[in-house]
Amino acid sequence: MTTDQPRQIARREQQPDTWHQHVTDLNHFLMVYKFGLAEINTKITILAEELTHRGTGNPIEHVNPRLKTPASITAKAHRLGCPLTFDDLRARIRDIAGIRVVCGFVSDVYTVANMLTRQPDVNLVVTKDYIAKPKPNGYRSLHLIVEIPVFMSDRVVAVPVEVQLRTVAMDFWASLEHKIYYKHDPDVVPPRLRDELTAAAEDAARLDVRMERLHREIHGPR
Ligand code: GTP
Ligand code: MG
Repeated sequence: MTTDQPRQIARREQQPDTWHQHVTDLNHFLMVYKFGLAEINTKITILAEELTHRGTGNPIEHVNPRLKTPASITAKAHRLGCPLTFDDLRARIRDIAGIRVVCGFVSDVYTVANMLTRQPDVNLVVTKDYIAKPKPNGYRSLHLIVEIPVFMSDRVVAVPVEVQLRTVAMDFWASLEHKIYYKHDPDVVPPRLRDELTAAAEDAARLDVRMERLHREIHGPR
């Protein structure tokens, strides 16, 4: 331990007001994202419940909303070379609020996406259709960035929310692919194994086509 370390620690400990201010500012920054996420979550829940009551079958298997943690926001900011100011984070990081919607069939993914984005208070900002055009590793999902107005006491904030829609089969692959690569640089995984993982994504896509066909044959088109 160097001699000035205890003094540094003491200096830091003498500034509880600054620390408290940082925490307050961060919580205030994240608050609107929490509300925006709750709004989108409610919309998805309404669609799922209403479609269930209509007897057309619930297209939504499960929903997973999540707020990025301060650590993960900081890590992404570093990756993007984004300065750590609230204005920059707000402008550059569009997935602070995110919700994953897992559907039964591929057609359900597009049905739910259309039902959500045609609502007048939902502003569709970005669409990335990795189902129509999968990523080179085989990853499939429909990603939307939507903005939803959040009504605060003195202002209305348009909050971006990333919505990831995918089938159960796509979710199965993506969750396990993430686990397999977790803490591994994809570049150090041998090409043979990478290719096999991509082939597994194609197997999952074939399963989706097959299940959708079976469903149509039994129930007719939705
Ligand atoms: P991020 O910085 O990761 O948010 O990526 P991006 O801003 O380029 O957006 P993109 O739409 O490509 O991906 C956003 C999110 O989709 C990721 O954070 C993951 O949750 C998911 N995702 C994208 N690609 C893959 C993939 O190859 N495998 C898995 N398991 N998930 C992926
Ligand atoms: Mg992301």
